[in-house]
Amino acid sequence: MDAPHPQIVGVFDSGVGGLSVLPALRRSLPAARLVYVADSGHAPYGERDDAWLVNRCHLIARFLRAQGAHMMVMACNTATAAAAHSLRSHYPHWPIVGIEPGIKPAVQHSALGRVGVMATSATLRSTRFERLLAEHGQGAQVVAQACTGLAMAIEQGDEPQIERLVMQHTQAMRDAGVDSVVMGCTHYPFARPWIERAMGPGVNLVDTADAVARRAAQVALPMSTDGHLAPDESPDDPADDAARNPAPCEFWTSGDPAALEAFARRWLAWTVTAEPLPDLQAQQPGC
Ligand code: DGL
Repeated sequence: MDAPHPQIVGVFDSGVGGLSVLPALRRSLPAARLVYVADSGHAPYGERDDAWLVNRCHLIARFLRAQGAHMMVMACNTATAAAAHSLRSHYPHWPIVGIEPGIKPAVQHSALGRVGVMATSATLRSTRFERLLAEHGQGAQVVAQACTGLAMAIEQGDEPQIERLVMQHTQAMRDAGVDSVVMGCTHYPFARPWIERAMGPGVNLVDTADAVARRAAQVALPMSTDGHLAPDESPDDPADDAARNPAPCEFWTSGDPAALEAFARRWLAWTVTAEPLPDLQAQQPGC
């Protein structure tokens, strides 16, 4: 019998941030082929307006569909906040998983009831964030901080700038004595050592990559490549299977492919090849 075609999962972020979600996705979907778009040529998303973000996310979604993606993971809080609703309305039968700041787990884990949220200004001004706060922030003191410049410093690997911006943007959280900090941007897990140092011991950092990967696996589970129920082919231990037999991962970037390859090698210990992303504006619509 022919081997089944792998499920193709499109993943994107404004740049390298979504790489903080890829290991969890690989563990939860070991047989899937991941196609990752780093839109580094247009980062930072967090300082763009909503109309621009919606348009850009539609162009990337169209590109990922043209690559055969059966579903899409928006590995970007800013893109999810601005465009998930519009994308889901446009593609009602195409599963789309977004990522949101983990206010709920942060509040649950806060013994003091004081929580910090680090995110982009576009995420913090969104109605999705307002709703998240209303649903899960009840009863807690929430210090939300727009971390302007931090995603870009991470994108550029500028460590002195990362350290300076982390110290600056965590000041209000230190002053408030929060004991739980949400990393509400997928770039920020790459600044974890600096955030931990700035916040000091005993402060819990919340990252939602595992939750997103679990959600992606739930959405993917009932589908085979033809959209019908797949037979149960799960290995006994998917993580072991992924390590032995890694499914292919494809990388595209609107920035410098060598920079993305170097970032993946440094932070994930993955040796990857990245391709230049075509000009999406010039691509013919059709999907
Ligand atoms: N990584 C993105 C997020 O999760 C945004 C970074 C940017 O501003 O481009 O929000």
